[in-house]
Amino acid sequence: MTVLVTGGAGFIGTNFILRWLAAGGDKVVNLDKLTYAGNRHNLSGLSADRHELVQADIGDREAVDRLLAGRRPRAVVNFAAESHVDRSIHGPADFVETNVVGTFNLLESVRGYWGTLRGEEASGFRFLHVSTDEVYGSLTPEAPAFTEDSPYAPNSPYSATKAASDHLVRAYRHTYGLPTLTTNCSNNYGPYQFPEKLVPLMILNGLEGRPLPVYGDGRQVRDWLHVHDHVRAIALVLERGRVGGTYNIGGRSEKSNLEVVLAVCRLLDELAPDEKIGPRERLVAFVADRPGHDRRYAVDFGLIASELGFEPSFDFVSGLRATVGWYLANRPWVESVTSGGYRSWIDQNYGESRGAAARAGGDAGRPGGADGEGGNVR
Ligand code: NAD
Ligand code: DAU
Repeated sequence: MTVLVTGGAGFIGTNFILRWLAAGGDKVVNLDKLTYAGNRHNLSGLSADRHELVQADIGDREAVDRLLAGRRPRAVVNFAAESHVDRSIHGPADFVETNVVGTFNLLESVRGYWGTLRGEEASGFRFLHVSTDEVYGSLTPEAPAFTEDSPYAPNSPYSATKAASDHLVRAYRHTYGLPTLTTNCSNNYGPYQFPEKLVPLMILNGLEGRPLPVYGDGRQVRDWLHVHDHVRAIALVLERGRVGGTYNIGGRSEKSNLEVVLAVCRLLDELAPDEKIGPRERLVAFVADRPGHDRRYAVDFGLIASELGFEPSFDFVSGLRATVGWYLANRPWVESVTSGGYRSWIDQNYGESRGAAARAGGDAGRPGGADGEGGNVR
């Protein structure tokens, strides 16, 4: 038996494949375009009879049709996406191309393949679409957490394209009967995360004594979940989820961005002290806000808890400690992904409109260090 994973060379896909195979799961065929976010070396330790990497675009009908017909998977798990909100603000076209058009083409290929299956192969087949809590938009401080019934209200080009892909998946279930599953998860952190996202960016900048750019006032709230818990939840949904169902996944771990950054600073001071750098808290630099920045996300994961028995195994304190430890122990991995392309992203995102995060503030409680008020640049 085979499972087709798309985007398996990225952060969550890599963690999914490693855990899936370690738990004795079926062979994985991993279809990945290998964009800047995909890294073939993440999975190079796996044997060829357990994992096969195929470089292709989910939007390439011919390549996907050929792969489905040749490998005959019993399930498809779709991680492939453009995933970084800031990049979607600088350049939304790639997000429409992969997240909307690409998912559409993948659904068309999968619908065609599923139509060729018979009996138990057809009834047992699943298409699991991995999505995000950002499709529900932003919460006020007192509002209840997102449930599966919360209305969609995406605010960034990234979340709008993910919402569009969720709607397509829903329509393929409703119209064609495709056996779909959708998961909407909160912010992940853990090993193999590309250092454009908050946690690994803060770890790497802190290690090297560079400024820690905090957008706006740093009081935006995210609900953090260790990636090992997310991939465990995805495997549960794949094996036992209700066909056609959607499941929210969260960590019951709401933290402001400033809390997260300061927690990273304390861990680095303890695990990688450096006299020349001093206390990392001094590196915090408040910079211009993200345009359209969502204020708060929080996920009610009561449905997956009651139906499938899911409960996060990491709390944020132990999960963050393990994550900092992983980045300290895996410097070659970090060096391999922070190439020339990475440097130009950092210049583009933090250099110009953010007034150069190079001007570190030093007073971690004070918003507005680099751009006066830390105000929204819209
Ligand atoms: P990532 O950016 O680390 O990895 C994305 C992977 O998809 C990369 O390997 C990339 O090469 C591949 N890819 C991109 N475009 C492709 C295309 N057209 N065809 C084939 N492959 C392509 O992303 P991630 O953080 O691992 O997120 C994986 C999925 O989980 C995404 O769908 C994302 O929306 C969702 N998600 C992420 C988080 C999070 O906190 N990171 C939380 C909830 C949901
Ligand atoms: O909620 C799930 C989503 O979480 C996923 O769907 C996305 O793929 C994933 O990237 C993540 O989106 P966020 O925008 O929440 O994650 P990011 O790590 O980019 O930012 C987390 C918070 O930290 C956010 O409020 C913006 C802020 N931030 C981020 C960066 C990179 C900063 O203050 N400074 C930074 O340099």
